[in-house]
Formats: sequence, C-alpha cells, structure tokens
Amino acid sequence: TKPLRLGIAGLGTVGAGVVKIVQTHADLLASRTGRRVTISAVSARSKSRDRGVDLSAYAWEDDPVALAKRDDVDVFVELMGGEDGPAKAATEAAIAAGKDVVTANKAMLAIHGQALAETAEAKGACLRFEAAVAGGIPAIKALTESLAGNEITRVMGVMNGTCNYILTRMQDAGLDYQTVFAEAEALGYLEADPTLDVGGIDAGHKLALLASIAYGTQVNFAAMSIEGIERITIEDIEQAADMGYRIKLLGVAQMTGRGLETRMSPCLVPATSPLGQLENATNMIVLEGDSVGQIVLRGAGAGEGPTASAVLSDVLDLARGTRVSTFGRPAGDLVAARAAVSTAP
Ligand code: HSE
Repeated sequence: TKPLRLGIAGLGTVGAGVVKIVQTHADLLASRTGRRVTISAVSARSKSRDRGVDLSAYAWEDDPVALAKRDDVDVFVELMGGEDGPAKAATEAAIAAGKDVVTANKAMLAIHGQALAETAEAKGACLRFEAAVAGGIPAIKALTESLAGNEITRVMGVMNGTCNYILTRMQDAGLDYQTVFAEAEALGYLEADPTLDVGGIDAGHKLALLASIAYGTQVNFAAMSIEGIERITIEDIEQAADMGYRIKLLGVAQMTGRGLETRMSPCLVPATSPLGQLENATNMIVLEGDSVGQIVLRGAGAGEGPTASAVLSDVLDLARGTRVSTFGRPAGDLVAARAAVSTAP
C-alpha cells in the first residue's frame, strides 16, 4: 500500500507535536492502519526557528497555498489558525485540488465550516477536525461515531482550559481576577488575543462546532449568546462557594420546543458535581443521548501532545480509507425545521 503523505502548514506547538508523533511512532501508526504515514512538505512563518524537530527530510514551502496544492501531498494538515487569511486560503486551495484536509482551526470552522464542507463534498474531499474541539478529548468522534444511534438531547461542558484555570485559581488561592489573569499570561495559557479566551469566544467556537455536529445543522455563530469571565469577581466566587457552588464557564447546546439553543456563559454548578470538581486547565465535555444517557469526557483541551493526538486520529482515519467528513450528515428537513429558530437568547 502506498503511504499517506501529509503536507503540514503551521509548525507551532501543535504542528511540531504532529511531526514528533509521525517520526517517533512511525511503526505504531503503520500497524494501526496497514499504511505508513509520511510527511512530504511543511510550511510555516519562520524557516529558521528551532522547534526541537528535524525537518530536513521534508520539502519547505514558504506559501501554504503552494503546499496545499503539491502533487506529493494527499492530506493537507492545517495548523496555522486564524479565522480568515492564509489558513482559509490554503484550506480552500487543498479542497479545490481534491485533497483531504485535517485542521484544528475552530475559529475558521465555526464561521466558514459549512461552506468549506459543502465545497469539500462537491470535490470528493474529506474535511475533518477532531482537534478543533477540546484538544485531546475525542468529543467529535464520540458524537459522530460512538453515539451515532442516539438522538442527542444535550451537549455541554467546560471548553476553555484557560478560563477554568483562572476561575479555579481565584477560588483556591482567594486571588482577584487581574492577578490570576497575569499568572495565566505568564504561564503562556492565553491566546495571542486573550479576549478569545476570557471573552468566551474560543469556547463559543467549540460549542458551535459540537452543536452543528450533534444536531446536523449550521449554528449561527454571530447570533450565539456568549458571555466571558472578565466580570467575575472574587466576591462572586466566594458567595457561590458559601452556597455549595462553583462558577464555571459552561457551554450548553440543547434542542427545545423553540429550536436549538446554544449558550456560553459563567454558570453555577454544584461544587461536588464532576463539572464543579474540574480543576486547573482541564476540559470536560458532557454528552447526553436518548438511549445512552449521559457520558462525561474529561482531559486536556490544549497543548502539544493532546492536540497532536487528536490530529493523528483524523489522519489515521483517512489512512484507513474513511471518506466521511466531520460535517458529513446533510441537514435533513426535520433538523432544518427545528434549527430555523437557531440560537435563541
Ligand atoms: N486557549 C484554549 C484554552 C486552547 O485555553 O482552552 C485552545 O483552544
């Protein structure tokens, strides 16, 4: 069997992590699917930066669009990030060339995912993005595969590790928001634009993707109700604790009589519940289906290893020959009708 050849655009933490797994687990990956995974070419902003990985065996492209179109690339792995710009241009170029795409780019997908998926479908290309939601937690796979026989009644969870770190640390150390925000910054937790984290937008992107998948419809991200944690005070946290609660930035998507409701906001959860006990930068995804009941998934929602692990899960599915995109289900009439009232306040 021919190897599955990757072109990787973006060699930050996650991109370097993917290269490391492909290099160190080459035999393991081949044994899992019967097909070797190789890297043909890579692309990033800086060619000279030391990333702790040997890139000398791979072709270098300055332009991710050129990388996406290369004949020796079967799967375009987009790890650049950014809602528009080079990430979207290169993803579109890969799809136009009929190549499969694996991406971790929740911002691009939350806004343009449906359009990209439709183009991919027309071109016979697969678009997959397990790594875009909650890093190492197999939330998308759980929904699309393990719970495929269920009507999903609710999806909820803590989807931003940085906010969970800030809220937990305020609670445990009795420190105010500004102090803990500065700590989180020093630890390198915050996105380049910290509003994405503390404003609830990053978590909102993830919730939008999960809701789209769970309910087979496009969520109107611009209309989603999103509130961050910037205004949470230590007094709020202490009052909640006195009543036996914790404050968590919680995302909830559920189908109601009025349609699909999606909301990301600080919520009170019982201190003794699994969500209440979620510490540090950990994420938790809670899925509810009509047959299965409730499933709780907990783990690292960010970082090199966990996110690269999720990227590899999609790559290996493609190596196994899957042709299913993550947004693979067309929105049926029933779902479309219910979703007509999308994202009520
Ligand atoms: N900044 C995100 C978080 C990680 O803190 O969870 C990537 O989405």
